[in-house]
Amino acid sequence: MQRLLAVASGKGGVGKSVLTANLGLALARLGKTVVLVDLDLGASNLHTCLGIRNRNPGLGSLVWKQEKSLASLLVETGQERLWLIPGDSLLPGTANLDWGTKRRVLKEMARLPADFVLLDLGAGSSYNVVDFYLAASQGLLVINPEITSVLNAYSFLKTAAFRVLLSAFPPKAEERAEVLAFAGAKTEGSGSSFLAFAEELAGRFPGKADLALASLRSLRPQVILNRAKAPEDADLGYRLRDISRKNLGIELGFSGFLLEDEGVGRSIAARQPLLALDPASPFSRAVQALASRIAISPEPQDRAWFLEAEGLEGLAAEAFT
Ligand SMILES: Nc1ncnc2c1ncn2[C@@H]1O[C@H](COP(=O)(O)OP(=O)(O)OP(=O)(O)O)[C@@H](O)[C@H]1O
Ligand SMILES: [Mg+2]
Repeated sequence: MQRLLAVASGKGGVGKSVLTANLGLALARLGKTVVLVDLDLGASNLHTCLGIRNRNPGLGSLVWKQEKSLASLLVETGQERLWLIPGDSLLPGTANLDWGTKRRVLKEMARLPADFVLLDLGAGSSYNVVDFYLAASQGLLVINPEITSVLNAYSFLKTAAFRVLLSAFPPKAEERAEVLAFAGAKTEGSGSSFLAFAEELAGRFPGKADLALASLRSLRPQVILNRAKAPEDADLGYRLRDISRKNLGIELGFSGFLLEDEGVGRSIAARQPLLALDPASPFSRAVQALASRIAISPEPQDRAWFLEAEGLEGLAAEAFT
């Protein structure tokens, strides 16, 4: 079964695109067929990491219905079993895709003939980003050893938890109003976590909050610490784990510790993934180890329910920031 892997970060410039390109290549070298999708709307540059000129139609063509299938947008990368669906200028970053469009794109992705589809997401916590992240069967959250990147990652998780809770209830359900009221009244670091709130809802509305509870519990984002310079840098990852557990009730997994590697800059200048240029470099080795773990890890949670969630559009972003 195809696996959809989303690569996200709260803060920009932490290495999502570099990681997506190299992880995709590492999975392809393990014999998997891999499609990389540039979902960084308005700032797409995944093609650059792969040394491809952006002359091809991209995702915008599907969104504006010039192309009917995502498969017709596949571009060869020059690497065996590795394909790219580029982003394009038809989709400005400010375009807020409606839920129906996101659902159409996600259903098209599920039809791609690939073992892995990797989504290179834009930075931040906008609903375009969070919705694609939640629809994936597995999510990677990239941080750098800087407090700002960790705090933004936490904001991302908070938005994701809120979105999961809302989408687990039908539009106009009274539970949705309760979720909005809870999120609006919550002040940082105090009160119950999102999970404790969902448990409380489950007590008051028997049977109705089961999906919310199960989906929050199964979220399990995998944190990747990139540009690490010292073993102590991992401590920031543990702090993120602790505040996510306490305030959100979300459990994080740790799946990567990628070192600062001057080869990464060189590889971008050379328009090739570092794994192709120098497979023995510290960054390449860590990415290969990550790919091996992902390739043998058990099938993650099926998040198809999120795709079927109704009435997500129209939920004002300002309801919760
Ligand atoms: N492990 C690393 N060692 C050294 N430099 C790195 C490493 N990872 C990323 N970089 C540098 O960080 C820069 C940003 O990387 P990248 O474009 O992948 O980030 P991003 O998260 O995709 O950014 P955006 O949010 O803008 O899409 C790159 O130019 C690269 O040189
Ligand atoms: Mg990027």
